[in-house]
Amino acid sequence: MGYVNYETEGAVGIITIDRPKALNALNSEVLDDLNAALDGVDLDVIRCLILTGGGQKSFVAGADIGEMFDLDIAGGEAFAHKGNDIFLRIESFPIPVIAAVNGFALGGGCEISMSCDIRICSDNALFGQPEVGLGITPGFGGTQRLARLVGSGIAKELIYSAKNIKADEAYRIGLVNAVYPQEELLPAAKKLASKIAANAPIAVRQCKKAINEGLQVSIKEGTDIECKCFGECFETHDQKEGMGAFLEKRKEKNFINK
Ligand code: CAA
Repeated sequence: MGYVNYETEGAVGIITIDRPKALNALNSEVLDDLNAALDGVDLDVIRCLILTGGGQKSFVAGADIGEMFDLDIAGGEAFAHKGNDIFLRIESFPIPVIAAVNGFALGGGCEISMSCDIRICSDNALFGQPEVGLGITPGFGGTQRLARLVGSGIAKELIYSAKNIKADEAYRIGLVNAVYPQEELLPAAKKLASKIAANAPIAVRQCKKAINEGLQVSIKEGTDIECKCFGECFETHDQKEGMGAFLEKRKEKNFINK
């Protein structure tokens, strides 16, 4: 695909947004390519995805400002829907997605990272929602996910002031789980993805579903969702395998996603 590369290493898929001349900014074509890359993920084989940016400098420098410049009201709303639809797809993708943020994560770049399950970043990463400085609001989920991730006070400060924050500050406020030297970021992402992929895939998927859906509802409704997800794991090969390995004091487990 033109602006998005997809490769696999065992049960781990790696999606790279690759438009380095524009610091991987998201135009309609990049968004379409990203959607197509997600279509191409073989969910029978792949158990965890990594999303990263091409080059050493930028994860994603935002939505494409050139493309947005001439939009009218309806066009602006439609562009926001286009981005949001794909980011919602990433958020609810059946398997976990790790954002390996390898540089600028501004505007739509910060937003796409927040649609992933887990964010880790390189020490040169820069996060921010600069939109109000461009005369617009965040439009790919930033007003919604940043407040949910770091709390409304910090989210409002960042969004209203349009100030960027470095990796250490992103770590301090809980926007990222860990910070690595640039060259260690992808290996760290792969290591984490492999650790996730080694667990029972049906159980991992049900965990993602329970956490994501539970965050939208009351604790009672959330625990009901958890009960359902818990139940769904039973009668699977992998439940028998995981518990059987424990009972037989066996270290090796053969999870087959069934
Ligand atoms: N859209 C389009 N092109 C972009 C871009 C973007 N968001 N970000 C960078 N580029 C392009 C630049 O125009 C430049 O292209 P040319 O070489 O053809 O001029 C190229 O990428 C390199 O950029 P710079 O020369 O500016 O690189 P730099 O290292 O000096 O600065 C930067 C890097 C600080 C990230 C700077 O490029 C920048 O501020 N980019 C814009 C960041 C931004 O405001 N993002 C939010 C966009 S709005 C949004 O995302 C809305 C939403 O929520 C949906």
